[in-house]
Amino acid sequence: MSMVTCIAPVNIAVIKYWGKRNEELILPLNDSISATLSTEQMHAKTTVMVSSNFTKDKLWLNGKKRAAEAAGQQSEFVKYRVHVCSENNFPTAAGLASSAAGYACLVYSLAKAYGVEGDLTSIARQGSGSACRSLDGGFVRWRMGSKADGKDSIAEQLFDEDHWPEMRVLILVVNDARKKVSSTSGMQLSVETSDLLKHRVENVVPQRTKDMIEALKQKDFHKFAELTIKDSNSFHACALDTYPPAVYMNDTSHAIADFVHRYNKSKGVNKVAYTFDAGPNACLFLLEADVPEVLGSLELVFPPHPKEKSFVRGLPVRRLPAM
Ligand code: PMV
Repeated sequence: MSMVTCIAPVNIAVIKYWGKRNEELILPLNDSISATLSTEQMHAKTTVMVSSNFTKDKLWLNGKKRAAEAAGQQSEFVKYRVHVCSENNFPTAAGLASSAAGYACLVYSLAKAYGVEGDLTSIARQGSGSACRSLDGGFVRWRMGSKADGKDSIAEQLFDEDHWPEMRVLILVVNDARKKVSSTSGMQLSVETSDLLKHRVENVVPQRTKDMIEALKQKDFHKFAELTIKDSNSFHACALDTYPPAVYMNDTSHAIADFVHRYNKSKGVNKVAYTFDAGPNACLFLLEADVPEVLGSLELVFPPHPKEKSFVRGLPVRRLPAM
């Protein structure tokens, strides 16, 4: 029997992926860029066991047995059945990139267990698109690629985890319930119905991606924040332009965005960037030196929930009142 355990962290997109040009291969309509959190933070942990004694593929997710899709369809190349146990140390499917960490972890562990070498990002991409960006640390770019078979739609590290060590992420958990509209169905509907998405993909993201790479290279936080905020808003505008609309942010999310703008304005320079994925929870980027003051101000505006005790890299994960 061979057994492999792996941990894969969550990644937070600062240039968002929203929309596929090929549903089956999961080929995106645009490049995206993300920051990978460190492994001590929000992550998925997966153990894969491969044995000639197993008669069926089996899967446990967060302690619960799930249907293993591959069961009964054993490939002639894979001789042995596999048992997989995976858990997240944070809420699943709440718009906190749980599937990204989960699939990245699964693909990496399976590859190790079966001795598969080479690029794994194009395999992880086919589980959940954003998963391909969780296989590397630091800042990662997922290139949309141009080939029909998706071979060039891969993720590559732009800057490693030591490039900008002062960078911190604060996750404000507004609501950890499962999202109503999954990112898969939301983005499919956006592709079918949103004119704004066409504009975003063709006219906005290509230049913004270049600008983001430059801001990261220069470690220009002010510019990084502006681009991150604009791209989050552009993605949510497309979600709202979808028919029927995909509404992910709630009133608390908007109050957080408003807080960030007011805070940045009071400083005369961008000190904090917000970004929201397909859910109401906020990810704030900021530099280490600004953490105490920003946390203090957040505490005044959004008093802490008495029950919340979790920490992300020494920073409290704040659970704000659900709306
Ligand atoms: O990887 P998916 O299918 O869960 O889609 C992720 C979409 C966003 O999180 C909203 C954006 C992104 O680039 O991660």
